[in-house]
Amino acid sequence: AARKLLLLPGDGIGPEAMAEVRKIIAYMNAELNSDFSLEEGLVGGCAYDVHGKAISEADMAKALAADAVLFGAVGGPEWDSVPYDVRPEAGLLRLRKDMELFANLRPAICYPALADSSSLKKEIVEGLDILIVRELTGGVYFGEPKEIRDLGNGQKRGIDTQVYDTYEIERISGVAFELARTRGNKVTSMEKRNVMKSGVLWNEVVTATHKTKYPDVKLEHMLADAGGMQLVRWPKQFDVIVTDNLFGDMLSDIAAMLTGSLGMLPSASLGAPDAKTGKRKALYEPVHGSAPDIAGTGAANPIAMIASFAMCLRYSFNMVAEADRLEAAVAGVLEDGLRTGDIMSEGKTKVGTVEMGDAILAK
Ligand code: NAI
Ligand code: MG
Repeated sequence: AARKLLLLPGDGIGPEAMAEVRKIIAYMNAELNSDFSLEEGLVGGCAYDVHGKAISEADMAKALAADAVLFGAVGGPEWDSVPYDVRPEAGLLRLRKDMELFANLRPAICYPALADSSSLKKEIVEGLDILIVRELTGGVYFGEPKEIRDLGNGQKRGIDTQVYDTYEIERISGVAFELARTRGNKVTSMEKRNVMKSGVLWNEVVTATHKTKYPDVKLEHMLADAGGMQLVRWPKQFDVIVTDNLFGDMLSDIAAMLTGSLGMLPSASLGAPDAKTGKRKALYEPVHGSAPDIAGTGAANPIAMIASFAMCLRYSFNMVAEADRLEAAVAGVLEDGLRTGDIMSEGKTKVGTVEMGDAILAK
């Protein structure tokens, strides 16, 4: 059976970056006997323009039926004043919700060729390869009550509620342990058990999950604030970090800054394994947005999108050799000195989106 991919290029530089992935898929089908079948849909502002909402029901159905979804980026100034419920971002939120993508994977990799141009010290970032696993569908961003309450005395109270149930912690830590087995075999769990009940439970459930199912993986616990400090001080001590929605949001943005440009950062969001097939629903997307400031100029860095496809090969299709090869090709063109504008430094060769994509494919 063919591997079914749904491409949702979206807005701005999304389609420009996706075009480079499309070339790689065409090459794999033609030359490597891969069997990807592609479907296409609209998401974000472009979907609003056609359907009046950020993703149509037909495209949602395609996403649910696909083996994996590749997502570009959504949004732009054209849609700044559309109604809140149908704004471009609503398309991504709908996909995450309906596909039940509870595990967000954010790798922070520092390619050797870019270590010199990092804003951080070379010895700290060179060769960095860590993976942050963030819980994406629970915690304080979703817990009830969530409101601004009028206290009637001229005061208001803003309320968000951090809630985690055992099953949510079990499934996210299971993803982290499984991924660790394919990498450095170490998981660091981060919470604030010293001040939060949800942190106490998080710690207990991760510990129990480790003991019963993954005793071969090394596990350590760290308070999330100390973890943030350690990420900046000596990030290479980590392999896989597992943490909740809020801490994961912040820690993954901190880790992103260790690696250079937004244009380099891929991500994956995974759901639970299907009871029958064992396959997880999955969506792969660059961390960056639609970059309206450079859209249409051919200057966008396609590496984040291409690296997201490499994650897709690795995690949705277990095509580990192909994923390794694609990532090595990215490292190789950087080694050769090719740079898009966002990662340009002195003495390097400046190229555009298409040239970068072509060079990676050639490599
Ligand atoms: P952004 O990530 O689009 O751009 C931030 C800066 O980084 C810009 O200067 C941009 O040119 C640069 N940049 C980003 N990706 C790049 C790439 N691949 N190559 C070269 N340079 C790159 O974030 P911004 O400007 O805050 O948001 C722009 C639009 O994107 C907004 O409408 C926002 O809502 C949307 N957005 C969408 C996201 C998504 O689709 N997941 C995520 C973040 C923002
Ligand atoms: Mg964030």
